[in-house]
Amino acid sequence: MSQSLIKNIGLLVTNNPSLGKTELGLIENAALLIEHGKVSWVGASESAPTSEKTTDAAGKAVIPGFVDSHNHLIFAKDRAAEFAARMKGESYSAGGIATTVEATRAASDDDLLSNATRLVHEGLHSGTTTVETKSGYGLTVKDEVRSLHIAKQLTDETTFLGAHVVPSEYKGKADEYVDLICEQMITQVKPYAKWIDVFCDKGAFTTDQARKILLAGKVAGLLPRLHANQLEQGDGIALGVELGAASVDHISHFNQNDIELLKKSKTVATFLPGAEFSTRSNYPDARKILDAGITVAIASDCNPGSSYTTNMGFVIALAVRDMFFTPEQALWSATKGGALALQRDDVGHLSVGSRADFVILKESSYIHLAYRPGVNLVDEVWQHGKRI
Ligand code: NIG
Ligand code: FE
Repeated sequence: MSQSLIKNIGLLVTNNPSLGKTELGLIENAALLIEHGKVSWVGASESAPTSEKTTDAAGKAVIPGFVDSHNHLIFAKDRAAEFAARMKGESYSAGGIATTVEATRAASDDDLLSNATRLVHEGLHSGTTTVETKSGYGLTVKDEVRSLHIAKQLTDETTFLGAHVVPSEYKGKADEYVDLICEQMITQVKPYAKWIDVFCDKGAFTTDQARKILLAGKVAGLLPRLHANQLEQGDGIALGVELGAASVDHISHFNQNDIELLKKSKTVATFLPGAEFSTRSNYPDARKILDAGITVAIASDCNPGSSYTTNMGFVIALAVRDMFFTPEQALWSATKGGALALQRDDVGHLSVGSRADFVILKESSYIHLAYRPGVNLVDEVWQHGKRI
């Protein structure tokens, strides 16, 4: 029988409050039994069942694998020069996306797949066991279909983002491009996509265009999520709530009305602190959202423009240091919060029946993720019950 016991865990974060202390469901001196890729028992070490195969966690902390719910991994080349210019004072705008669109269209399928695979592996080795990725650097029917076909080889959490920006060949004809998305792209990407997303912001799509696209996606069976209010205050959050979006992402700008709407909804508020870091923008006042009791996720937003990192430990450090999350809130948002943003109940926690996706840290506490920024604190990553 494929059975394995992780014993001598100094501190286990289950994210299941019925199993241990606080919202994180903390158990000290814990053990975890895995069978067929899933958790089959969890509890105190002294009452753990026996197993032929055991791993000694040597008193270290174990956390659920990170659920990185927002990324753009299907692209070619990078934009290092654009980043350097920003660090000299240029500001970030949606316009940079066109550079990556050009490079992505010119790249081969193999190049796109190997670049995305590299990034998924990079994330996995830093503890990300569930990853979402969007399309959005193709922006033709053919290039969006191939982007999602490639994405689907790497994860089931695939998002159609044909509405990333209006491509140059549709300059001045944004509504025609919206029609292309609604009338052709959605049907053709559908076999490879679970989600539909729109960049609803300055320089991208208006609220009305975003509504039209997301409604067309919903009719086709895609589930809505949204890039909202990254660059300016707009109606993106209200639209996300109106359409029952799983998540509104970035939300670098929001007002009291947005907070009230989110409070009454099931829509997750996803912060992407790597984007503020890398575009040298002001961080949003996340505490207002956290204190309102809204469900919050954090994600890396890995993309070549605004946030070229796959490291969720780094994102946790930013959320704690610069957005005033507690270490507990940041860890929860990077695991259970990410799972809720993807409407998944099998990942983001360690309970009987959940996927055995977890990270053995090199330290005895998860606090070190923020306390020791930039240091590799990942000792072992387990995915589907197997050490990778
Ligand atoms: O989530 N905001 C829109 N899309 C990406 C950035 C894409 C790019 O700059 O290439 C984001 O930050
Ligand atoms: Fe994004």
